[in-house]
Amino acid sequence: MTIELSQPRILDRTAITDARGRVFRDLRISLTDRCNYRCTYCMPREMFGADHNFLNRSAMLSDDEVVRLVERIVGLGARKIRLTGGEPLLRPGIVDLVRRIAQFDVDLALTTNGSLLPRLAEPLAAAGLRRVTVSLDSLDEEVFAALTDTRFGVRDVLAGIAAAEAAGLSPVKVNTVVQRGVNDGPGLRHLLDLAEHFRGTPQILRFIEYMDVGTTNGWSEADVVPSAEIVAAINARHRIEPVDPVAVGEVADRYRYIDGGGEIGFISSVSAPFCGDCSRARLSADGQLFTCLFASRGTDLRGPLRAGASDDDLDALLSNRWRERADRYSETRGSGSDGGPRIEMSFIGG
Ligand code: GTP
Ligand code: 5AD
Ligand code: SF4
Ligand code: SF4
Repeated sequence: MTIELSQPRILDRTAITDARGRVFRDLRISLTDRCNYRCTYCMPREMFGADHNFLNRSAMLSDDEVVRLVERIVGLGARKIRLTGGEPLLRPGIVDLVRRIAQFDVDLALTTNGSLLPRLAEPLAAAGLRRVTVSLDSLDEEVFAALTDTRFGVRDVLAGIAAAEAAGLSPVKVNTVVQRGVNDGPGLRHLLDLAEHFRGTPQILRFIEYMDVGTTNGWSEADVVPSAEIVAAINARHRIEPVDPVAVGEVADRYRYIDGGGEIGFISSVSAPFCGDCSRARLSADGQLFTCLFASRGTDLRGPLRAGASDDDLDALLSNRWRERADRYSETRGSGSDGGPRIEMSFIGG
């Protein structure tokens, strides 16, 4: 079977640019800081145990507040919205919230660990969700269990991916964060197994270079497997060639199997940072706006919202924040993009 690759989707709207001339296009919304996994590189159980202070209900934006901000932000030029977490499917009322956000003319996607998709894929698709990205770091149950520290297994995630495809949330993208000595396997065998599993299917596997997000994962550059190494290993098995990007600011380098086996991608934010055209802002579950994944400070929107800010007030706050933005952490590395300790990925959204 020959796998058709996706084509560009072009939407245009007002554009605001930041201090480095980068246009605002994408919003990522963290809908909860909770997760039903405890991935060692994201929410290690020692740091995120039973006594961890997760956001309480009143600290989190309500559905109405999220929708109000989405409306303002879409008006300022957002054309892609990605719902993240933590695990976004743990948010009570997620299907109704998706239905409300889907009313806006945006490319609406969600990043999930897949565990709850068997139950939720269909209602989410019916509510207007268009695409999902599912995290899966290994097909080996033992490696998966050690990494994710959850009662769910590889088979649950594969069932989630299948449910998403069946519900029309296609093509499903699959994210694999690669850590040397953890889920690469001897001679990158575990990564090649993943590639083989998704080859010839509509699903698009993307290998992600392990990043130094947050402060709890003890990241070291030696843990990173550069994408070039994985590209070479896959190419030695089945020839692959680069494909043009679908959109400006895309994070994954796309490749295709030349024999028609479909697409595979590489996200190389350590070996080849992509800050130059970064069009993404992030909204945390408690209503702070972050202009970089590696930020240490956000701009509080919940306070103004609850104090009765007008639409014009909110638009001014949001657009001014974007206009003054100069972040480019992945190009410089070091402390947070604004000098302080970096926020955790589970809080700021992936
Ligand atoms: P679509 O293009 O909408 O399909 O999504 P995507 O390709 O942006 O994929 P996704 O949103 O799932 O991002 C994949 C991964 O890329 C994330 O989990 C992060 O690891 C990484 N990533 C995404 N955005 C950024 C970013 O702004 N900076 C850095 N350094 N990494 C990012
Ligand atoms: N480096 C790269 N990717 C990460 N993710 C979480 N933490 C990291 C990290 N340190 C990925 C998850 C998921 C997405 C939300 O972000 O695996 O695919
Ligand atoms: Fe949960 Fe995703 Fe973090 Fe794992 S990487 S703990 S699944 S939010
Ligand atoms: Fe954008 Fe910050 Fe990621 Fe660079 S490090 S691509 S500026 S979010």
